[in-house]
Amino acid sequence: MSKRVALVTGGIGGLGTEICKYLARSGRRVIAADLASRAERVAEFGKEVAEFGDQIRFEPINVGDFDGCAQAIKAIEGKYGTIDILVNAAGITRDTTLRKMNAQQWNDVIDINLGGVFNTCRAVVEGMSERGFGRIVNISSVNGQTGQFGQTNYSAAKAGMHGFTMALAREVARKGVTVNSVSPGYCRTAMVAAIAENVRSQIIANIPVGRLGEPSEIARVVDFLCADESGFITGANIPVNGGYFMDF
Ligand code: CAA
Repeated sequence: MSKRVALVTGGIGGLGTEICKYLARSGRRVIAADLASRAERVAEFGKEVAEFGDQIRFEPINVGDFDGCAQAIKAIEGKYGTIDILVNAAGITRDTTLRKMNAQQWNDVIDINLGGVFNTCRAVVEGMSERGFGRIVNISSVNGQTGQFGQTNYSAAKAGMHGFTMALAREVARKGVTVNSVSPGYCRTAMVAAIAENVRSQIIANIPVGRLGEPSEIARVVDFLCADESGFITGANIPVNGGYFMDF
């Protein structure tokens, strides 16, 4: 069997980079798709994954643009083969309290974090269903489960991803395609580093394991869900948050 092809949006980001590496180590051909305009980070990423050679490749995508997304995915499939695994890890924050939030801050976060999931899934789900195999993993957030002060936009988008995940999981369950979400807690990424020091230290003090998560600790769960053998897990959300939020 030829190698499974995995597309990771936000692939050069804090979590995305580790997800790409994990999937490559498990023998997948990985496309890290992200904004080409992040030129400096693209170059850095190239160095970080150099040891993987051809197995990890960067390709440009703007997940917020429906038509652009469809075109980018078509081009990627033409170059690397049809996509078996899609990981939606592209995400942004525009943190501010609702009373100060402008429409752009709301729309940007909804369009990228939630609209992006629609745009990419829409472009791959038919092919996956026809071929009888697919793995989709949406990277949500603990803040989509609990809400977070200063994140009405982000919490709404991340909570929306759960509803999307469950609905799509039902639609494609008989086609060999699974759709799940992973909800990371606070991890050692640039996004979390950007939180004000006093707020961040308060958050860390409330994480039962007493530290931030490592991106690799999220990536191994994504890798697990993407395995051929994980076909009976669908419509699920797996929290990976150091005990920050517990539910059943
Ligand atoms: N909890 C409780 N009260 C808070 C607060 C908080 N987190 N943040 C601010 N306040 C208080 C302020 O002290 C202020 O009180 P007073 O009016 O008595 O002075 C009041 O709320 C109103 O504050 P402002 O409207 O002026 O808001 P701000 O500009 O001070 O702060 C904020 C807004 C910067 C967004 C801040 O709330 C914050 O940093 N929140 C946390 C954001 C966060 O966790 N982001 C996560 C990013 S990482 C990520 O998203 C990854 C992931 O998935 C986990």
